[in-house]
Amino acid sequence: MYLAVDTAVFQKSAEIHKFLMFKNKQCLVVSMRVIYPPEDFVKKANVRDPAIYSRTAEDWKGFWEDFARELHWYEPWDVFLDESKAPYYRFFVNGKINVAYNCIDRHLEGKRTKAAVIWEGEDGAQRVLTYQDLYREVCRLSNALKELGVEKGDRVAIFMPNVPETIIAMLACARIGAVHVVVFEGFSARALAFRLKDSHANFIITCDGYYRRGEIHRLKDKVDEALKGYQGVKRVIVVKRLGIEISMLPDRDFWWDNVVKGQKARCEPEIMDANDPLFIMYTSGAIAEPKGVVHSTGGFLVHVYATTKMVLDLKDNDVFWCTAEPGWITGHSYVVYGPLSNGGTVLIYEGAPDYPHPCRVYEIIEKYGVSVFYTVPTLIRMLSACKDEEIEKYDLSSLRLLGSVGEPIEPDTWLWFYRKVGKERCPIVDTWWQTETGGHVISPLPALTPMKPGSVTKPLPGFLVDIVDDGGKPTKPFQIGNLVIKRPFPGIFLNLHADPRHYVKLYWSRYGKKVYYTGDAAYRDDDGYIWVIGRVDDVLNISGHRVSTVEVEHVIMELDEVKECAVIGIPDRVRGFAIGVFAIIRGENYEEVAKTIQEKVKESIGSFAKPSLIVFTPDLPRTEGRKVVKRALSEFMNGRDVEISTLTNPEILRKIKETIKRDSRGVYVVK
Ligand code: WT7
Repeated sequence: MYLAVDTAVFQKSAEIHKFLMFKNKQCLVVSMRVIYPPEDFVKKANVRDPAIYSRTAEDWKGFWEDFARELHWYEPWDVFLDESKAPYYRFFVNGKINVAYNCIDRHLEGKRTKAAVIWEGEDGAQRVLTYQDLYREVCRLSNALKELGVEKGDRVAIFMPNVPETIIAMLACARIGAVHVVVFEGFSARALAFRLKDSHANFIITCDGYYRRGEIHRLKDKVDEALKGYQGVKRVIVVKRLGIEISMLPDRDFWWDNVVKGQKARCEPEIMDANDPLFIMYTSGAIAEPKGVVHSTGGFLVHVYATTKMVLDLKDNDVFWCTAEPGWITGHSYVVYGPLSNGGTVLIYEGAPDYPHPCRVYEIIEKYGVSVFYTVPTLIRMLSACKDEEIEKYDLSSLRLLGSVGEPIEPDTWLWFYRKVGKERCPIVDTWWQTETGGHVISPLPALTPMKPGSVTKPLPGFLVDIVDDGGKPTKPFQIGNLVIKRPFPGIFLNLHADPRHYVKLYWSRYGKKVYYTGDAAYRDDDGYIWVIGRVDDVLNISGHRVSTVEVEHVIMELDEVKECAVIGIPDRVRGFAIGVFAIIRGENYEEVAKTIQEKVKESIGSFAKPSLIVFTPDLPRTEGRKVVKRALSEFMNGRDVEISTLTNPEILRKIKETIKRDSRGVYVVK
């Protein structure tokens, strides 16, 4: 496979570097130059002294403590890091802090009238909350929550679209010491119910409904459905977003406006321990059920505060737009806590990025003068659907920094973004991290790190990252291995909620209690640049959403008609991966069963996980021991050579290959 290298971009750069593309496990070396951060950017950057790397290598603890001291603490920490209970690492031991205070109150003196949150609705509606507005609304809701019986440590589920109330709700929880569990609004009632039960949530904050692509989505109905099977919720607070008719259960359901009415605009923040949980975020792992990732208060805040400043280079006059939904970790770390703890201005947009026209994103950048734009490769690929002359109609000159996260970005998509959106003026920070790490781990520092399109470049100062083989030995350049982190860092999660067994097993067993196993495959080039390939386990990255293939299989297996099934990721041009299902069923009612499978996955997980390919087959590739070899299917679908020597029934693979092609979509029957 060859890469289309756009030579015009490289004329400015000096050095030629090599990099690899993988196909059929063979390597192909392509020459490419690095791209240096534009001079204008470098002059003004928050971090522009390269000594940060060497200084931090000598004193990595001091590096983090310096950032921590920029925040407000009620009491300082005694010990920076307690490793005695590894792999339960605890940072800022005995430090006392409140996250909401650091995100709001701390800025009131100088920034009372500064915009904290700018909201754009899908219909073009607009709202701006200053820091004073945010302070007042958070305090009023905090008081309302207390009056409704929310106590420190209670879990409060937040099931909301991208509206200012979501941020207010998160910060109100943080203010009073409740643990928020934000659930992506696209999840089904069943997926919500699982998260409510697993986290023992006692309260829910939601809204009546919201618009998406001009259509009404009835969110409260999903809450009602989820609560049929779970009695643990005492109170539901409902934001009136659309004013549609919904059912309100007396004594359980309350309108937001009614509960905050008359509340005092002042609420003393709860003094929290640095290692009290701030929130739980559910994510998919290589196991059947979603895992509740528990994050700390102090360490998490220090990590996202520091990286927002260093990597996203956030400054006082920026308009920062991170396109992540509040229901994902990026929404927590880099829409709410990172930018607001820095006193920044964040923009949030409620609707679909390509609605009502494919250039909506450019329109919003122009309208608000967005200066830092942080998004996902899926959206960048979608943005490139807009014709050049259409893009040129918009004034994008306010942009100064671009960012990408969530999945590997192909070099040509990177280059397109660099040229057409950033106009070669804006560095791109391709940031690698995970729900579990809380914040950035590997990324360029925008003024210091020469960029290579498609590479996440190097670990940030303070991080010890390695790529190792199965025996734990560091790999040679261009040798693919497991990405690991060899030293704890403040944002690392505290535990899996109510599941310490999996916490240890999934993350801290492969190479012992001192090495964090990420589950990603990667390699280094001969400049030490890191290239992330993707997950090594059964986790798929669909438009930047993590989906466990095992979880999807379990859902499909609940159907009586299905005898056995294998779910794999199939490459998808825009979304990275899509879901492919190979199933053995009872009877021959193919079309109908295919529909049932689609519906079942949609209703159990959410529509983003709906299978794109369903193949009915008389058998699946198996080992001697009858174990299904999903890898054989996935290698075929990903265009790699399939190793068939371990299969007892290679003929089934031949039949599958005769029926479908790599890029097939829809329903097929293998005879
Ligand atoms: C997985 C984590 C990080 C917040 C959003 C997703 C993949 C993440 C990159 C990147 C290549 C990336 C990894 C990782 N990933 N960022 N810049 N380049 N891959 O969080 O849902 O926890 O997913 O996303 O595979 O393990 P998440």
